[in-house]
Amino acid sequence: MPARLVSVINMKGGVGKSTTTVGLAETLGLHHRQRTLVIDLDPQTNASIMIGGPERWDALREDERTLDFYFEAFALQQQPVPFRSLISKKVTDLVGAPDIDLVAAAPEFRIVERDMIESFVKRGFHIDAIQKWICERFAQGLRMVMSDYDTIFIDCPPGISLFAEAALIAADAILVPTIPDYVSRLGLISFRKRALRLINERRGGDSRLFVLATKYDEAMSLHRSEADLLAENLGEAMFVTRVPQHVDIARAAEWSDTPRTFERKYGAMAPIVKRLGDEFIDKLALAPA
Ligand SMILES: Nc1ncnc2c1ncn2[C@@H]1O[C@H](COP(=O)(O)OP(=O)(O)OP(=O)(O)O)[C@@H](O)[C@H]1O
Ligand SMILES: [Mg+2]
Repeated sequence: MPARLVSVINMKGGVGKSTTTVGLAETLGLHHRQRTLVIDLDPQTNASIMIGGPERWDALREDERTLDFYFEAFALQQQPVPFRSLISKKVTDLVGAPDIDLVAAAPEFRIVERDMIESFVKRGFHIDAIQKWICERFAQGLRMVMSDYDTIFIDCPPGISLFAEAALIAADAILVPTIPDYVSRLGLISFRKRALRLINERRGGDSRLFVLATKYDEAMSLHRSEADLLAENLGEAMFVTRVPQHVDIARAAEWSDTPRTFERKYGAMAPIVKRLGDEFIDKLALAPA
């Protein structure tokens, strides 16, 4: 069975997209023995460094094995880089040898995106045609590796870019981490509408969108009431698990050169991250393949 493709996305920055991507990939890889791939689509490169470590990331950049090279080759009409060659095997600093692989990003991705759009516009392409082209190239790469994995996560950048939209369109499921406060809820409502419209137009609505409360502060009545309101409105589309704002989650982001257990890495938050993975498996089982 081909992998399920899950895009982790929100227009809003700093809501825990990369943290959620890495945590889920690690618990699925370790506790559910899933073959998992993380694709970092964000030129900030947070997920790449969190799950691959700074040294591996430097080496991947040096070897020209980051995602920007894949798209650059197409855009410059050079020999295409096989998508599979970008994959770095068995990343993560966890013990237990989970099957977690990475396609890393580099800051140059921003420039590649701009140059690509510029060159297409000069050649008279309309923005819709450029979007279609990006989606097709991305899908072409993904097809090469889909059968090697159970779950593929795409960690998207904040905001909306042609690449983030391509990830949205390609996904079987969309996961939207959000901080349960008023401003975030407003952003979520408009983002969800836009995302669902895009999915309907391009995929015939055959993917599902899930919302996860992150950086949740149980002591704040605002967080409690906003998360309850989301749960009430979204029903099954809302994760029951809420990821607390906790220093152990922030600390887990730092790479350890010495492999560590899941319990050591996530500290007091280990049971929550594991529970999130369990719920993810249950929820995704309901989503269409
Ligand atoms: N539950 C949490 N508790 C404490 N800190 C957290 C939690 N989740 C994320 N953080 C911290 O908040 C910051 C932003 O998290 P993260 O990078 O995952 O967000 P993001 O949505 O991917 O951001 P961006 O939009 O910039 O890509 C990081 O420093 C991260 O360590
Ligand atoms: Mg991020």
